[in-house]
Amino acid sequence: MKEGGSVTVLISGRGSNLNALIRHQSGYRIGHVISDKPDAGGLLLAQEAGIATTVVPRASFTSLATFKAGVLKAVLESNPDLVALAGCMVVLQPEFIQAFSGRLINIHPSLLPLFPGLHTHERALEAGVSTHGCTVHYVDAGVDTGPLIAQAVVSVLPQDSPETLSARVLTSEHSLYPWIVQRVMSKDITLEGRTVRYSPLASQEAREHGFSLHLTGETP
Ligand code: GRF
Repeated sequence: MKEGGSVTVLISGRGSNLNALIRHQSGYRIGHVISDKPDAGGLLLAQEAGIATTVVPRASFTSLATFKAGVLKAVLESNPDLVALAGCMVVLQPEFIQAFSGRLINIHPSLLPLFPGLHTHERALEAGVSTHGCTVHYVDAGVDTGPLIAQAVVSVLPQDSPETLSARVLTSEHSLYPWIVQRVMSKDITLEGRTVRYSPLASQEAREHGFSLHLTGETP
């Protein structure tokens, strides 16, 4: 990782987190955006910001395995210091996760380990939880199971619908993710084995922003 280094962002959709990462670009730059969906809105946002884009469409490959190898090839060619998943719907192959171990992060719209997978806002409301939010974590071979870096918590309101809750969580995603990318790039957040380490600066800034660290027991 190096301060001012290059981040490749993988998307599949509208790209609002990508947009937040582009707008922040402090201590890092977005070098490349890769999408498996040719019509992903985030591609336009990247192009407007003058960022190189690559589309790796599933339809161009004869098998899932060759498609996933194509995604890995595109990411390797972009030569990133860090890979940030932002609404990327491709389940990455083990080779990918190995190649970028400690340099591959994802944002998920729930307070993991609660509600991994899809439809998190509906499930949070059905479960009747009083708090919900988002998590940024390192990616491992499981679905939303990697070491947790930090979370932003929002209150669930009695009148919330999945849409209103999702909008509030999304706003918190847009402040959490750029900060984490900046602090991973500056090595104020690091991964040792499955333990996430924070510098005093990262801990202090997390407190100031109201982000939660050390919630899972995976961290000391
Ligand atoms: C976000 O809610 C993110 O947490 C999840 O997928 C959604 C992507 O939204 N992984 P956007 O494309 O960044 O707007």
